Amino acid sequence: MPPIAYLECSRCHARLSAETPQTVCTSCSDQPAGSLFVHYDFSHLKGTRPEDIVGKAAATLPWTGMWRYRDVLPDAEPVTLGEGWTPMLPSRRYPGAWLKEEGANPTGTFKARGLALAVTMARHYGLRKLAVPSAGNAAGALAAYAAAAGIEAHTFMPLDVPSANYVEAVAYGAHVELIDGLISDCARIVAERRQQEGWFDISTLKEPFRVEGKKTMGYELVEQLGWEYPDAVFYPTGGGVGLIGMWKAFEELELLGWVKPGKRPKMIAVQSTGCAPVVRAYDEGSRTSKMWQNAATFASGLRVPKPYGDAIVLDIVRSSGGVALALSDEDILASILDWARNEGLLLSPEGASVTAAYDKLLSTGFLKPTDRVVLFNTGAGLKYTDVIAAAMNLRRPRAEASTV
Ligand SMILES: Cc1ncc(COP(=O)(O)O)c(C=O)c1O
Ligand SMILES: [Zn+2]
Repeated sequence: MPPIAYLECSRCHARLSAETPQTVCTSCSDQPAGSLFVHYDFSHLKGTRPEDIVGKAAATLPWTGMWRYRDVLPDAEPVTLGEGWTPMLPSRRYPGAWLKEEGANPTGTFKARGLALAVTMARHYGLRKLAVPSAGNAAGALAAYAAAAGIEAHTFMPLDVPSANYVEAVAYGAHVELIDGLISDCARIVAERRQQEGWFDISTLKEPFRVEGKKTMGYELVEQLGWEYPDAVFYPTGGGVGLIGMWKAFEELELLGWVKPGKRPKMIAVQSTGCAPVVRAYDEGSRTSKMWQNAATFASGLRVPKPYGDAIVLDIVRSSGGVALALSDEDILASILDWARNEGLLLSPEGASVTAAYDKLLSTGFLKPTDRVVLFNTGAGLKYTDVIAAAMNLRRPRAEASTV
């Protein structure tokens, strides 16, 4: 594992040390302060072949999954539940499409990658109490990894999260508060109480390591395609951490010379029409987003009315030649049923926003059927049985009625 050289601010480019736990940039004169990104000394890896480095790590490590990329992750003893190295499934119908099945992660979503690394580093630094505002799945993942690490987890999520998110967080022994509001209200509460309670805030992009865990999705999709870029990557965007993490991975892969020369993929940010601050800013040509009022969608992970990293996400989408687009909940539900019935995959609503967006961009000609695309199903549909049933108006026959 490489030593961290420094943390760099995304806005003012100040360099901070990673010797002690850091939150956001302390040098930014404008607010909100920039997020911090990890930079390593990779000099010993330049000129190496990824097959050798990653292949050797995968063959010799006691930990499976994303830790095959330990040579590009911080030097700390992992808190792992087997996250990462998820299936890359070729579609049965679309010749150019692969579905990246992040529902196979511990706790059923890609949030496992970010929280595995954030909790690993929290334990490394000796932090004892972690707090997170969440749309639901990050709370479940924090609760699981904190339990594995013997650290306290304090989770805040909206009252109407899918039932699985509440049940899992309670079962893992986290302190759970359900808030009558959105993730932005949860974030405010964490910010107000963290000092007094002695919590370390691991909100999206307010500490450097969740991005670092999620960057493994970028390494992984490139490795699974033979160390080559696809033409496009579709990502369901709430806070945008996965998209930012993958872009960081592409930068590092190029620095290391680990990816075959080629154009970086178009990054496609997908939201729901019920909460689409990034799409609106993209359409208006703005650098940042504005708070989305009355956010409502059954793709609960996308209910982020004002992402902290909006400027970074918009910059990446634009510079990659990608696009940001929003789909209605009706289109998302139709895509859930389409993929369940024709591919045997029960997608999360967030994942189905991406498959619906793919159909749309094929129909507009933005993409060709032969373009190689990776579609992220960021969570297992099984975490959403209550919300999917409600969207389908599906009522289960009562048990006693079916036995007579
Ligand atoms: C299943 C799922 N997909 C996508 C997202 C959005 O993730 P990000 O904040 O990285 O954009 C979330 C966030 O909660 C989620 O739970
Ligand atoms: Zn700064």
